[in-house]
Amino acid sequence: MATRISKKVMEEVHQWGSMKQHGVTLKYMMEFGSNPTDKNLLLSAQFLHSELPIRIARRSIELENLPCGLSQKPAVLKVRDWYLDSFRDLRSFREIKDMSDEKEFTKIIKAIKVRHDNVVPTMALGVSQLKRTMNANTAIEDHTEIHEFLDRFFLSRIGIRMLIGQHLELHKPNPNPNCVGCIHTKMSPLDVTRNAIEDARAMCYREYGNAPEVTIYGDPDFTFPYVPIHLHHMVFELVKNSLRAVQERFMDDDRVAPPIRIIIADGIEDVTIKISDEGGGIPRSGLPKLFTYLYSTARTNPLLDEDSDLGIANTVTMAGYGHGLPISRLYAKYFGGDLQILSMEGYGTDAYLHLCRLGDSEEPLP
Ligand SMILES: Nc1ncnc2c1ncn2[C@@H]1O[C@H](COP(=O)(O)OP(=O)(O)O)[C@@H](O)[C@H]1O
Ligand SMILES: [Mg+2]
Repeated sequence: MATRISKKVMEEVHQWGSMKQHGVTLKYMMEFGSNPTDKNLLLSAQFLHSELPIRIARRSIELENLPCGLSQKPAVLKVRDWYLDSFRDLRSFREIKDMSDEKEFTKIIKAIKVRHDNVVPTMALGVSQLKRTMNANTAIEDHTEIHEFLDRFFLSRIGIRMLIGQHLELHKPNPNPNCVGCIHTKMSPLDVTRNAIEDARAMCYREYGNAPEVTIYGDPDFTFPYVPIHLHHMVFELVKNSLRAVQERFMDDDRVAPPIRIIIADGIEDVTIKISDEGGGIPRSGLPKLFTYLYSTARTNPLLDEDSDLGIANTVTMAGYGHGLPISRLYAKYFGGDLQILSMEGYGTDAYLHLCRLGDSEEPLP
């Protein structure tokens, strides 16, 4: 595979990778997308035709130059090839002049989105392939450059998928009047949280045959514009972590497991969701590792299973994959929010998920 890349393509990748990226805000996407006329669809396609190759080229270059030989790991080479294929698809597409070009281009970017569906688990597999060959004294958590790279890489991926996703959604007939692409202009954080809890508890039930209770406090009428699938993802991961901690702590205990408590606060700048559990907390020495990739205290790590060719389906598991917290924090940061974890070892953990309410923070462009 690696030898197939011509010098010409690599030169073009480097040329595009040095161009300036152009960010968009949630507010801008909402305003622009609320009027999906042919003219706007054409403008959107033209923007993506010049913007996506820049973003994809940057990531391809980074994938070539990773520390500790990570670039040579088979799974990473596979991801690199997906990026190069997508770069070529975009660059070989003619200038977009009319709606028939737009239509064809939309098919291309839809296929690109599908091609990259499994980038996260495949990169994780690449890092675990590296972990296996590292000597026992060095922990993968200590390799700051690798985690910083993965943060940039996955953050950029969230942006690319958001841009493509918005363009695709704008083609959908009969959209919900409160939705602009994947953005819900009147999203109820309480509703989304409730759904995420239900999904996490169902998973906990399957895993342990039981699931602790979860209580929510918040204004049921409060809404603000946000991307429900992003919020669902974050709350789902945080609640799974709390459920697991509480379940494991109280499994063999006569006492009833204390409920996980969620508070949703609607401030002027931020909407904050606090998830508190009495699952025993996290030792202070573990806190610096929380947001590194592959760090997990789960007994089974699906990625380190020798036979795992990554049955991709099992990447949504109760725990063990070590990506829940770092990826959730990236989703929060993408729209100007953040995620913090505070713990009292011996008692429990509080997760503070801050979401920027104003929607005008600049898209982070690693
Ligand atoms: N609420 C919590 N209570 C106790 N430990 C937690 C909690 N949340 C996270 N952790 C610790 O952080 C680790 C990493 O979490 P995460 O990134 O979600 O990966 P995973 O859940 O796959 O292990 C967990 O394995 C666990 O040790
Ligand atoms: Mg988790």
